Amino acid sequence: MFIKNISLIGFMGCGKSTIGKILANDLKFIFLDLDNVIEYIIGLNIREIFEKYGEDYFRNLESDVIKNIYHNSNCVFACGGGVFKRYNNIKEIRQNSFMVYLSMTLEKAYERLKFVKDRPLLITEGDLKEKIAQMMDQRKEIYENNCDLKIEINDKSPDRIKEEIIDYLNKH
Ligand code: S3P
Repeated sequence: MFIKNISLIGFMGCGKSTIGKILANDLKFIFLDLDNVIEYIIGLNIREIFEKYGEDYFRNLESDVIKNIYHNSNCVFACGGGVFKRYNNIKEIRQNSFMVYLSMTLEKAYERLKFVKDRPLLITEGDLKEKIAQMMDQRKEIYENNCDLKIEINDKSPDRIKEEIIDYLNKH
């Protein structure tokens, strides 16, 4: 299958960056984490951007980066979990990449996210698991409806997940 780019999508903590790096390495593609690109451009980390300027500002930056970066080819992109909050992003990403959704259960997400401090949208006074459940519920459908390939990550190793993606591409 000819692919221009690959985008890894899915909820925070599903392993987009870890898998993206090894996948890009195997395919001899360039790996780009969209959050890191934004951090590099602004000179602040994601948490600081949210604190200083708010989510809307971050989403504008995210859209600008997407508009510019998807002209490239031979890249593996790790997309932030909320990238589809702006409709135009879906269009841009769909048109220019093969989209792989890394899906996980609520239990898995909670296990991976319960101690992280760098996800501003997960800061809550209330129950974190409840918050994750709500967000996953809101987003699940949009990930499902827009991906070309869905992989259940469960307890698979990053290597195994990478192999599943490569196998699929080789067979199609
Ligand atoms: C977000 C996910 C984060 C980052 C920001 C918002 C979200 O990226 O873009 O904190 O709305 O789900 P990761 O999915 O890479 O953690």
